[in-house]
Amino acid sequence: MSTFYITTPIYYANGEPHAGHAYTTIAADALARYHRIKGDDVFFLTGVDEHGANIDKTAEKEGLTPQTFCDKLAPIFTQLWERLNISNDIFLRTTSDLHKRGIKKFLTALYESGDVYKAPYEGYYCRPCERFFPEKELTDEKICPIHKLPLEWVKEENYFFRLSKYQDRLLQHYSDNPDFVHPESRRNELLNVLESGLEDTSISRSSVSWGIPLPFDPKHIAYVWIDALPNYITALGYDADSENYRTFWPANVHMMAKEITRFHAILWPAMLMAADLPLPKQIIAHGWLTKDGEALSKTRGIFIDMDGDIAKYGVDSFRYYLLREFSFGNDGDYRPSRLHQRYNADLANDLGNLLNRVLGLVNKNFDGIPEPTTPGEFDDEVKEMAQTTTEKLDAHMKSFAFDSALETIWEFVRRVNRYVQQTEVWTLAKPETKPRMGTILYNSLEALRYVSVLLSPFIPETAEKIQKQIGLTEFDTVAEWGHLPVDLKVSRGEPIFPRVDLKKEKTPQPKEAEKPKKKTKAQESNLISFAEFQKLDLRVGSVISAEQVQGADRLLKLQVDLGTEKRQVVAGIAEHYKPDVLVGKQVIVVVNLEPATIRNVESHGMILAAGDDSVVLVSPETDVQLGTQVR
Ligand code: MSP
Repeated sequence: MSTFYITTPIYYANGEPHAGHAYTTIAADALARYHRIKGDDVFFLTGVDEHGANIDKTAEKEGLTPQTFCDKLAPIFTQLWERLNISNDIFLRTTSDLHKRGIKKFLTALYESGDVYKAPYEGYYCRPCERFFPEKELTDEKICPIHKLPLEWVKEENYFFRLSKYQDRLLQHYSDNPDFVHPESRRNELLNVLESGLEDTSISRSSVSWGIPLPFDPKHIAYVWIDALPNYITALGYDADSENYRTFWPANVHMMAKEITRFHAILWPAMLMAADLPLPKQIIAHGWLTKDGEALSKTRGIFIDMDGDIAKYGVDSFRYYLLREFSFGNDGDYRPSRLHQRYNADLANDLGNLLNRVLGLVNKNFDGIPEPTTPGEFDDEVKEMAQTTTEKLDAHMKSFAFDSALETIWEFVRRVNRYVQQTEVWTLAKPETKPRMGTILYNSLEALRYVSVLLSPFIPETAEKIQKQIGLTEFDTVAEWGHLPVDLKVSRGEPIFPRVDLKKEKTPQPKEAEKPKKKTKAQESNLISFAEFQKLDLRVGSVISAEQVQGADRLLKLQVDLGTEKRQVVAGIAEHYKPDVLVGKQVIVVVNLEPATIRNVESHGMILAAGDDSVVLVSPETDVQLGTQVR
């Protein structure tokens, strides 16, 4: 059995958690759950960072001691994680004895390495970042690029860690381990920092009182990052060299957003090198969740109404939207309207309706799950696709592409929907065709069970609901075809994603902070961001057959082969192309377009064409492999 240790950052306990914190934690949870169903021994850590001047200051404003303030905030984090179904194995607080004991041991080791020294220090400091800005990072305005606040001139006696000494070893580590930092853009950024030279860094504050005293000079308090980073080992019981520590360190994945990679991928590994401990295997950085293109900010009133959206659509829809909509390494703009669309199209329509329809047919025609006695057309295609879906999913999860992972599962869900459609299973209730009907329904239920296993890391509550409705009493995690027993009594099938009709809701009055803001230049000129462009999934397909849609002069119904699946697409090109000339032609298909019914014909995608009066189809210059993505 392999082990898998994954961590989120420990979030500052100086305010309530928001959707940005939820994003990292949900992504880490999906990965932890994914490794659990693969059979790995998983340890998943999250927690709170409770020391530092900022927290002291906020507590004072509230008239509380910092400890009482943290004691109030920590449960707000744990309650949110419970609500979001986060499966962490530990919630670490830096005020805990476990952490304090570990820090004492770690800082002693650091000191004994000979790479810690005392020296006076003065420089520009950002309080919210809790860090000094070296000369080369300063702008003329002396403003923090993240918080947009003026930097303060701070002068004090500090202990320093000889970070500069580790530059070459770090560069060597990066070159020996090309996957150490993901994605590559962040890796390159950090390589630039490394190559331009490292300065020694202060590890203590003498002007701060809230924190952990240095074991070798208790008048000095450990700098908050020096206190925080070792949480990844203290949580495992590094202080006592415990079983967990020996089993799980080094971590497989430290997950976070891009702004704190420097601490994790330069300072932390150098500290570990000094203390002679193994380095984490991968530092994974995702982009920021934004609202109307702007960074979330409590002070500026830019926030995501996570509670409201969860109340409306449910926890799993929120989890699904975050993981499906955004490309993990890039920034992503949170839009309630997109959540609504994904809820209706992907969850309620593709998945929910499929389950409902199949359960309805089983209930109407059989006592329980029928036996698959009568194989026929399309069965093997569906079975094989289940297998390839698992393989593709593996590859996407290895590269942290949660969006593609979910799209891959949905390609299978849509295939099963078409299987039900193509076989016209509802017409097979006559005695002579009933065995075939039973087989198709068995396969459809087995496909749904299979899908529920693959979905369980992302939307665990839904996965359980699906299996319960199918009649399974214990959650089955086996992603192997044919595992579904026959004769199980299926339930009546309550909709797992009931329709949410926005029109029925009262439009809430915008709060001051939510009132429309001035449009950015990009919004005014209708430009889209690269992230928005990337949402389009364009693929090369080949037309298998084409026919006129009855009663519609302009429409053709096309069957298109996309390599791994076949699609039906309705295209308004009948006045420009005769059906038979299209057969065999390669076309570009928008495959992640919401399905639509046009003149009673279902359309699952769109074909790209140019022109208004004289329309021509867009094709690759030479034939390419079917399913190739167009970028
Ligand atoms: N306490 C430090 C981390 C110490 S780890 C040893 C800290 N805390 S934080 O509360 O500021 O959390 C930062 C992290 O929260 C980000 O790296 C990211 O994981 C998450 N996010 C906070 N805002 C976010 C967005 N707007 N979008 C995406 N993730 C966000 O830094």
